[in-house]
Amino acid sequence: MAKSKKLSPAQLLGTLSFHQALLADTRRNRAFHRALAARVRPGHTVLDIGAGSGIWAVVAARLGARRVVAVERDPLLQPVIENLARENGVGDRVEVVCADARRLELPREFDVVVSETVGVEAFDEGIIALMERARERFLRPGGVLVPESVALRAAPAAPFDPGRLSPPLVAAESFASLTRHVPRGVIPERLRTLAPSRQLLRVDLHTARSGDPLPLARARFRVADGRGVGGLAVWVDMGLAPKVALQTRHGTTWTPTFLPVDPLPRGPGRLSLELDWNVARRRWHVEFEGDGGSRHAGDHSPLFAWGVVRPALRRGAAGSRRGRR
Ligand SMILES: C[S@@+](CC[C@H](N)C(=O)[O-])C[C@H]1O[C@@H](n2cnc3c(N)ncnc32)[C@H](O)[C@@H]1O
Repeated sequence: MAKSKKLSPAQLLGTLSFHQALLADTRRNRAFHRALAARVRPGHTVLDIGAGSGIWAVVAARLGARRVVAVERDPLLQPVIENLARENGVGDRVEVVCADARRLELPREFDVVVSETVGVEAFDEGIIALMERARERFLRPGGVLVPESVALRAAPAAPFDPGRLSPPLVAAESFASLTRHVPRGVIPERLRTLAPSRQLLRVDLHTARSGDPLPLARARFRVADGRGVGGLAVWVDMGLAPKVALQTRHGTTWTPTFLPVDPLPRGPGRLSLELDWNVARRRWHVEFEGDGGSRHAGDHSPLFAWGVVRPALRRGAAGSRRGRR
């Protein structure tokens, strides 16, 4: 059992509405269902890490799995999973374990491990570490993971939000120049991409190690007008099983991430992106080479915004120390 914490009806509402949204995510659910149908064979043993409502544990049992272990760290969800399994007539084959999968011990007996712990930024829900542990401790030799890979894709995009005040009550360029260093989640329907997307990096979950930094990602795009580019949209592309993929560009509960850039020169040209997606040193560097000879290079990182604000904080702290004397 996971370490007990105070649970409240408000938490239950939050948890239920989160999982209700996931259960209503048709694109996601169809893709995961297709992947499990391709992977789970009658008689298999299946481990579902981060089982949530229990949807994939129940699907695996209905596909003929002999035994399914549903691991979920949120204790509020244990009865939810048990009820769903009973309702689907597979209560006798789905065992619910309330625990943090990073500390769990189980026999190395599973033919399939499924884990929908893919975050909006791909790796922010810890899928690399969870699947690494699953591979090393739970998956029998020859067993498979769902998903098997997680990749990032990107495309230049029109300004998502020009960062202007509406109505423009005060000048706010100093603020806008800071927010050009802040990645943000965007409403997919409001995102307008300006060139075909490119894969930035791909992590094979059958080999990835959580201690390894993500490699620096590079991509080049052809754009019709640099001035029309407000930033780069980045989203996730999951390889769930052979020939079963799921992208989070639109139509799912995930949202793409928008990386703003400084204004680029007018006219057609080539845009190069270099992206460090490691959270602690996230940075995106863009270069634009206009067909007419214009050039622009820009570096963006939340650390730069911090670099602008931090000296003022230091001055403020020194000032208040002087004031107290
Ligand atoms: C995005 S939800 C997916 C739920 C369900 N599998 C689905 O696809 O609808 C991820 C779930 O994983 C659980 N989770 C995240 N990290 C976990 C961990 N280390 N151990 C156990 N459960 C975890 C969360 O509590 C959450 O319920």
